[in-house]
Amino acid sequence: MRHVPGQGRQAFFAIRPTRYYKETLRLRCVLASLRFNFIKNAIPMKRKTLGTSTVTVTPIAFGAWAIGGWMWGGAEDAAALRALKASFDAGITTIDTAPIYGFGKSEELVGKAMTGIARDKYEILTKYGMNWKTNQGEFYFDTADNNGKPTKVYKYSGKAAVISECEDSLRRLKTDYIDLYQIHWADATTPISETMEAVATLIRQGKVRAAGVCNYAAAQVDEALKTVQIVSNQVPYSLVNRGIEKDLVPQALQKKLSIIPYSPLQRGLLTGKIKPGHVFGPGDTRENNKFYKDENIARVNAMLETLRPLAEKHKATLTQLIINWTTRQPAMDCVLVGARDEKQVMDNVKALDFVLSDEALEGIRKAVNALVLVD
Ligand SMILES: NC(=O)c1ccc[n+]([C@@H]2O[C@H](COP(=O)([O-])OP(=O)(O)OC[C@H]3O[C@@H](n4cnc5c(N)ncnc54)[C@H](OP(=O)(O)O)[C@@H]3O)[C@@H](O)[C@H]2O)c1
Repeated sequence: MRHVPGQGRQAFFAIRPTRYYKETLRLRCVLASLRFNFIKNAIPMKRKTLGTSTVTVTPIAFGAWAIGGWMWGGAEDAAALRALKASFDAGITTIDTAPIYGFGKSEELVGKAMTGIARDKYEILTKYGMNWKTNQGEFYFDTADNNGKPTKVYKYSGKAAVISECEDSLRRLKTDYIDLYQIHWADATTPISETMEAVATLIRQGKVRAAGVCNYAAAQVDEALKTVQIVSNQVPYSLVNRGIEKDLVPQALQKKLSIIPYSPLQRGLLTGKIKPGHVFGPGDTRENNKFYKDENIARVNAMLETLRPLAEKHKATLTQLIINWTTRQPAMDCVLVGARDEKQVMDNVKALDFVLSDEALEGIRKAVNALVLVD
């Protein structure tokens, strides 16, 4: 507050509250905006473009499967909302979700967390084609819903179903468009052309910005491309699971598609925190997975230990090193990193705070090439 010469004491006090509050308010706004900008710019992330589309994304995205609870032994809503908000505040603007993640719950949490944020400030990648409401399509597996009710899941992507699933997702996500709409798993009962025609219709209607696929083999990608310009294939990829380097990565590079790798931490294993004998919570499906056999946990952890000096050189954790390495692999334009809570998010966003040399990238590859897992 500035003193104004020539004003009497009475006038000063009369004017003071207004000026005082104005000045305080201005200061508060400046501080808030500094804080906001500081958090927002905590990691300046160079954005990437999905294939030939106009959709730009952050090189790491928030993977919203675990927050839906299903197959991850449950999840706590408040922690999930904090994780989503912390992720956005830290500069990760891209979120990957799906209707099946918690039978609508993950999408609802995303919609709730993003309420009040301008829609063009974040990108939603979601999916369709996993049907738990009818018995249409190709039976996939038996499961239990969030209330423990036995539920059958079918892979189904008939035209009318895709159109109506999109409406459900838009409602849960509280938005009027989806940035990337991806088939979750191929459905053998519906021609790929029919499914892709449905997505082309949604694009024409402005409800979807770009089409993607998940878990598609190279031949299925080629088939989909005959009907609609798909821009991405979302597939499993991690340092210990690099099968797609044989065919899908070369195809993506040749056809200008993005690979959206999922489970880059091999569902938590590559954090190094899982030890042999680990007891998973009820409903957590990781224990049945080959990677989580005690012998494989021990072998992977031994391999990770050889990478620790490199991580320490960059003042990074093993988790951050693995995420960073994944973002540097060819065609991997948007690495989906799952997180359950705010702490994991804040650890993971620091993964892009350092640059690995080509030599370091190759050294990591060599370390994992020496790893043999048991079946
Ligand atoms: N299209 C598909 O078919 C498909 C399939 C799978 C996944 N996805 C997508 O990909 C995303 C990521 O994959 P994902 O969730 O399977 O696996 P992930 O990213 O490899 O692993 C995520 C899990 O690792 C643990 N974790 C993460 N950060 C950590 C940290 N800093 N410290 C300690 N633990 C940490 C957490 O599990 P705990 O806390 O339980 O240990 C977390 O839920 C999914 O959320 C989903 O969006 C898609």
